[in-house]
Amino acid sequence: MFESLSKLPADKIFALVAEFKADPRPEKVDLGVGVYKDGKGRTPILGSVKKAEAAIIAEGTTKTYVGVPGNKGFCDAVTDLVFADSIERDRVASVQAPGGTGSLWVLMTLLKRARPDAVMRLSDPTWPNHEPMVTTAGFAVTAYPYFDAESGTVRFDDLIAYLDGLGPKDIVLLHGCCHNPTGANLTQAQWDRVAASFKKTGAFPFVDLAYLGFGDGLDEDAYGARRLATELPEMALAFSASKNFGLYRERVGAAITISKTADARGIVASQMANVVRTSYSQPPDHGAEIVRRVLTEPGLRAEWEGELAEMRNRMLALRKSLAEALKSKTNAKSFDFVATHRGMFSLLGISEGAVGHLKAINAVYMLDDSRINVAGLPETRMDELAAAVAEAIKQ
Ligand code: LMR
Repeated sequence: MFESLSKLPADKIFALVAEFKADPRPEKVDLGVGVYKDGKGRTPILGSVKKAEAAIIAEGTTKTYVGVPGNKGFCDAVTDLVFADSIERDRVASVQAPGGTGSLWVLMTLLKRARPDAVMRLSDPTWPNHEPMVTTAGFAVTAYPYFDAESGTVRFDDLIAYLDGLGPKDIVLLHGCCHNPTGANLTQAQWDRVAASFKKTGAFPFVDLAYLGFGDGLDEDAYGARRLATELPEMALAFSASKNFGLYRERVGAAITISKTADARGIVASQMANVVRTSYSQPPDHGAEIVRRVLTEPGLRAEWEGELAEMRNRMLALRKSLAEALKSKTNAKSFDFVATHRGMFSLLGISEGAVGHLKAINAVYMLDDSRINVAGLPETRMDELAAAVAEAIKQ
């Protein structure tokens, strides 16, 4: 049976996690996988999450099935969090899914059923798992222009020219906020223009929203998704609670669709339920119930928003201090864009050789395209790190 298979390379993000773990050097710095870390390099469980979890343990009376679409209170609370009053609920269908990736997968399977001949357009560059997922789902893929590595900014004119040339057979996978890997995001005016383009061409927007609240704030980061929802008849959105609730291993996400009409919504909901039932029957409840409680119980909600703001502000401060340190240590290249980027990542734009040098000589780990996880930056060793980058880019 299995002799027909060939060995595949490991996922590069999680291969780097393993490599970092195995590195015995005590000074090692992990700027790889997108996991939030505090000033001590830890990824603690949020206080709001701990309280919700304790209440679930104390009050739980059964572990029987929740149902194919998962925890309805969770799906509704996430829909409110993301879309607020931008869309009537009778056009929205949602299922809980295992993490952002599970949500993406449910939606890709649904979209493949709906439009088998569609071409999936991915941003250049994008999260390394997007393309393998989309091709596994059976879509043809092409890249749309997004990032100018030299300036560290969005190629907005090129992006719009590209989007304006698309048609109803195209699905465009957009990063809702906190672009991964670049950290370069659209302004509100740019989102308005993007929404106008979709309205004109009939192309379908498919939003990956994995870092809501890590950029400028919950409402600010939801601007693009809300704008698309207001302007367009249909869209899909994959939400992740891994980062903003620190629930990585619990796998908490939601697949959300907006249909043209309430009738169409019923059909889409039945198809999503069928995708779930035929893949994993129904999602695990624990993490979703935590999120439901945190979002709907006012005390927990306020505590979580405070904890989220703390994570966000720490990343903003780290961005500023890295940009300043890099400015003082390197004369060859400006890294000012690190301070203006938002979210967990920035693409430094240094060569693969320089990335390899940093790993080998300084035990500094980042993805080979030079994506860094800002939350992993050691705040007390910023000058040392900047000096190491300055040395590496001379090689
Ligand atoms: C990342 O990009 O590092 C995170 O989204 C984790 C993952 O699943 O790849």
